[in-house]
Amino acid sequence: MAADGFQFPFTPEVEAATSAAWDKVKAHVTPMEWRAQAPLIAEINRLKHERDAVILAHNYMTPEIFHGVGDYVGDSLGLAKEAARSSARVIVQAGVHFMAETSKILSPDKTVLIPDLRAGCSLAASITGADVRLIKQRYPGVPVVTYVNTTAEVKAETDICCTSANAVQVVEEAARLWGTDRVILIPDEFLARNVARQTDIKIIAWQGRCEVHERFTAEDILEIKASFPGAEVLAHPECPAEVLEVADFAGSTQAMQDYVVTRQPRRVVLITECSMAENVAAYAPATEFLRPCNLCPHMKRITLENIYETLLTGRHEVTVDPGIAARARLAVQRMIDLPPPAVPARYDLVKARHHVDVELI
Ligand code: 13P
Ligand code: SF4
Repeated sequence: MAADGFQFPFTPEVEAATSAAWDKVKAHVTPMEWRAQAPLIAEINRLKHERDAVILAHNYMTPEIFHGVGDYVGDSLGLAKEAARSSARVIVQAGVHFMAETSKILSPDKTVLIPDLRAGCSLAASITGADVRLIKQRYPGVPVVTYVNTTAEVKAETDICCTSANAVQVVEEAARLWGTDRVILIPDEFLARNVARQTDIKIIAWQGRCEVHERFTAEDILEIKASFPGAEVLAHPECPAEVLEVADFAGSTQAMQDYVVTRQPRRVVLITECSMAENVAAYAPATEFLRPCNLCPHMKRITLENIYETLLTGRHEVTVDPGIAARARLAVQRMIDLPPPAVPARYDLVKARHHVDVELI
């Protein structure tokens, strides 16, 4: 049996080496597919040891990547922390380009590889370093908090970065450190609106959107709740505020996973990218998932095949100009040095304050 373009046999040794991963993916992968994927998984795991490489895989990777070859799996915050901590010589980023850049910024001496250079992000594409310089001219003295879903050039213009796991904490810390009651939080308008509902700090926002999460509507959620009674609805903070108002919980991809793993709800709906539910289901066998997902076309550019090619050929190396990286590192490191964020509360707080607004640039 061959995986696309690669002729590796499905031997008893391969079967044994990949049996733990098979247990986790077999609800979503057919035996026929597995006989093609497992040899490639075994080969990737062999090659990464040979190359002293570590695979940092985002929670939106497909199950065979997430459970089969990821050495560390998590949300953007977790992946950034692991990039800084890892002692491997090579980092293979199974995620999108801004994540690979963040790894390079934090580990300038390591080789950072991404399997497909086209794996972008609509948020990262929504703003440039020149835009941020203009914003700073318009709001002198107001700290700039930038979501990690941005290019290195944008991070270099930033005072402190945040992720969906710690955005409220970072905004409040920035206001405290800069002695202001206003903070610029860019580029995700919806994240900014959702943060504004959880803090007294005034938020100045940019009109960037995640092309995956902006498509969910409150009507979708209400319809799901009606047709799937008793389900707990967990949504990512990149969704519109009206979606979070009718959700039961909002948090980063890791916070959503932790919620399901620790609480083991009877029924759950994850309002986010498609692979999340498949990956998390392996840790909550008794939970029934409804999967009204939207695919992220950028995350889905990463495949087992191109991870293998990356390890084999060293393509594609991600580099960041050292001057830009040094400035961006200050902003990312300030975030990493903060204590871990508190476990997000249920979203009742947001609903209670739903009139808070943001100033759009
Ligand atoms: P997380 O940091 O929550 O994993 O989100 C990253 C992302 O790109 C979500 O769309
Ligand atoms: Fe960017 Fe949205 Fe894809 Fe995340 S899901 S990488 S925010 S486009």
